[in-house]
Amino acid sequence: MKAVVYEDVRTVGVHDVADAGLEADSDAVVRVTSSAICGTDLHMYDGRTGADPGLVLGHEPLGVVEQVGACVETITPGMRVVLPTHLYCGTCHMCARGLSAACLRARPDGVGAAYGYAGMGPYRGAQAELLRVPWADANCIRLPGEPGDAHEDDFVLLADAFVTGWHATTLADVRAGDTVAVFGAGTIGLLAAYSALLRGAREVYSVDGIDARLDKAGELGATPVDFRQGDPVDQIREHRARAGLPIGEEKLGGVDKVIDAVGFQAHDRAHPDRERPNQVIADAARLVNPTGAVGIAGVYPEKDLNPQPGETADGWLTVPWATFFNKGVSVGFGRTHDRRYTTHLRDLITSGRARPGTIVTHHATLDDAPELYRQFDKREDGVIKAVLQP
Ligand SMILES: NC(=O)c1ccc[n+]([C@@H]2O[C@H](COP(=O)([O-])OP(=O)(O)OC[C@H]3O[C@@H](n4cnc5c(N)ncnc54)[C@H](O)[C@@H]3O)[C@@H](O)[C@H]2O)c1
Ligand SMILES: [Zn+2]
Ligand SMILES: [Zn+2]
Repeated sequence: MKAVVYEDVRTVGVHDVADAGLEADSDAVVRVTSSAICGTDLHMYDGRTGADPGLVLGHEPLGVVEQVGACVETITPGMRVVLPTHLYCGTCHMCARGLSAACLRARPDGVGAAYGYAGMGPYRGAQAELLRVPWADANCIRLPGEPGDAHEDDFVLLADAFVTGWHATTLADVRAGDTVAVFGAGTIGLLAAYSALLRGAREVYSVDGIDARLDKAGELGATPVDFRQGDPVDQIREHRARAGLPIGEEKLGGVDKVIDAVGFQAHDRAHPDRERPNQVIADAARLVNPTGAVGIAGVYPEKDLNPQPGETADGWLTVPWATFFNKGVSVGFGRTHDRRYTTHLRDLITSGRARPGTIVTHHATLDDAPELYRQFDKREDGVIKAVLQP
């Protein structure tokens, strides 16, 4: 089968590799119809997280079941399914509580696993024609309709991007009536902003420095904040002041909830050609209102193989702990527990209440992947979300 393979820093190739097949009686094999490229793939592409050459990339698959093992009970060939990024056993202590990204059985050397990701288990990626899915009864989320129908882009975002955006709003405890700021208007940030609006936030700010992404944030109903035009914290505080704070609430001139949808590769606003891994955390601490919450969905690796000069290689960051303490802020972190959200968000899509697929900007074949990775890495040509269609 054809697959997108990591070759070296900033080089992916399209190779013929052995077909994915059943390896256990609880497996399925899925023929992939759509498979998205994610900002997480770029951490590997940029040589920051140590992928081995030959790794099949991709963790955002949608497809049709082709084959099932002898023990699979609820999934049969021909079903249309989405496969959550963080695959899980479905029955361990964590999975039973819906905490599937911390599955205790999916990865022998740690907690939680994913397709096609360095350090997240032995699973091949999904930017390929076929995918082996372990524990198929748990991991195949059934979908209505036919491949290529009007929901193809909505459903492929259920594998990771929409659930992660929603998870970020859970980490930040977004409630009806809240004011929210989302740093980063890539796919995750845009869908976090969209999720905050779905949850009833009264004002959502979307911070980035790329025109196409700020425009998309505006189309989704958020207020775009361009960090090239000045300190985004000051811009949002000025906007809140103009909106008019009720008498007695002047001390709440920031926002109630902040979401980090950027992670460790954040641009340093003082030096635009550099990264500063604690830039967004520092901004969040200044912006969040007393007793507010911060949700961190952006990735922070424990080993950065190519840190910026003077920056951490091991994830130890200077954070304004005292500000968080004095404001009484809650901070939530981590990978999305797909199982808690996937079916709820699927039902929001099928009922017509959510259309996350409107953020997809590019469709391409597997053969186009090397060029698309290059464009996406440079955030070129308006590439926000690219979907490969094997
Ligand atoms: N927690 C999870 O389960 C999970 C799942 C998927 C992705 N992620 C992570 O979420 C992050 C975002 O993913 P994505 O696909 O949207 O990536 P992306 O690279 O497309 O988007 C990141 C955006 O952040 C913006 N940005 C950079 N520095 C900034 C700053 N200082 N202030 C505001 N914006 C800034 C960039 O311009 C870019 O538009 C990545 O770290 C990714 O690995 C986490
Ligand atoms: Zn992803
Ligand atoms: Zn488990």
